[in-house]
Parts: sequence; structure tokens; C-alpha cells
Amino acid sequence: MSCSETDEGGRRRAPFLTFEGGEGVGKSTQLRLLARRLRSLGIDPLETREPGGSPAAEAVRRLLLAGAPDHWLPLSELYLVLAARADHVARVVAPARAAGRWVLCDRYVDSTRVYQGLAGGLGLDLVERLQRPAVAGEWPDLTILLDLPVEEGLARRSRAGPGSRFEDKDPDFHAQVRQGFLHLAALEPQRFAVIPASEPPETVAERIWHAVRDRFARELAP
Ligand code: TYD
Repeated sequence: MSCSETDEGGRRRAPFLTFEGGEGVGKSTQLRLLARRLRSLGIDPLETREPGGSPAAEAVRRLLLAGAPDHWLPLSELYLVLAARADHVARVVAPARAAGRWVLCDRYVDSTRVYQGLAGGLGLDLVERLQRPAVAGEWPDLTILLDLPVEEGLARRSRAGPGSRFEDKDPDFHAQVRQGFLHLAALEPQRFAVIPASEPPETVAERIWHAVRDRFARELAP
């Protein structure tokens, strides 16, 4: 998988950044902080999330997150996540990038590879094959992986209120999620920036900013 800076017609597409990590690592906060920083530089990014990010995909999100941890089989989860992704990519992500707008997405392809493929036991191959049409060539240029010990993330999350179906899965599942993300990052070091997430949010935001500045030096040049 390589970055997709141009479409099939060779036109430039705006940068696409994704935020990934286990439960409670602070993705949403960091996505917001990065968006604010970009706005201070005159760049107005689209902030979005998966599963969700479009009306139809948000409806699928509600199905996915409700119920007992084993409510859906991993394979059913995969089809649901991809049903949501197909809509979100076609109606939100691709049009924004084509129009020159930066896209910041809270979770994307790597969550599927990890939650359904690795921790969920379906394997990376099946996930890659099934998700290709939904992704439609919209691969992230940069993926910020926020890494935190599992207990720390789950403790942060439980302080924030009642969790979703995924947060209630057993500790072993969450350990596999963390290892799975680190494994994917090691396979594609040029796309991933792995950022330790135990530091205060401002420190984490600064590290993320360095990674973004390095990767998009040309796009950010005045
Ligand atoms: P999210 O709202 O990001 O949860 P949190 O902010 O609590 O980390 O994501 C909801 C859940 O959906 C999350 O537990 C992971 C799961 N998920 C998958 O299992 N597969 C996927 O492809 C995606 C995008 C998310």
C-alpha cells in the first residue's frame, strides 16, 4: 500500500491523515488539536471519523457499537464496517480530497485490519481483499498511531463514562489490538508515525505536529 497523492487521471489529491490506536488513547482530542493548528495556518481540514462520517455510515455505526461484546461475529462486523466505509469514502472523503481539502479521519483502514483482521481473527488477507472496493484507492498519506499501555487506555476510557461494545471486550483482545497496530506500523514505517500517548496532550500534539510538518513540508510551505 502506498500513499495516493494523485488520482487515476494524475491530478493531485489533498493530504489524507488518519488517527489510529486502541481505546482511550486520545485520538479524537489530538485530531481536534491538529485541525486547530492547521486552521491557524489557513488550512481548513475536514474532520471526520469511522465507522461513520456520513449519515448512512453513522446509522451503521449505531448498529456496530450497541449490544454485548459478542453481538456481531467478526465477519459480520467486517461487512458492516465496510458498508459504512463505502458510503463515507464515496460521499465524503473522495469528494473533499478531490476539491483540495485536507481530510483528518479518526480511525480508518488500519482499525479494520487490526480489530477484525488481527484481534478478530479473520486475517489480514481477507480484510484487504474485501475492503479494497470500499476504499476505492483512498489510502492515507500519513497515519498517526497513538500508543498507550492497554490498562492506561481502558482506565482513561472508563473515567469518561460507559463504553461501547468494543471497550467491553476482554483484556486479551485489547492487548492484541495494541500489538496489531504496532505490527502494522513496523510493516509500513514510511506511512506510520508512532507517538507515545502517555504524555500530556500538548506534548503529544507537538510530536504529532512534527510528524505532519516533516511529511507535508511541501504542502505547508508558505
Ligand atoms: P471509536 O469511536 O474511535 O472508539 P474510541 O474513540 O472509543 O476508540 O471507534 C468505535 C469502535 O469501532 C472502536 O472500538 C473500534 C471499532 N472499529 C472496528 O472494530 N473496526 C473498524 O474498522 C473501525 C473503523 C472501528
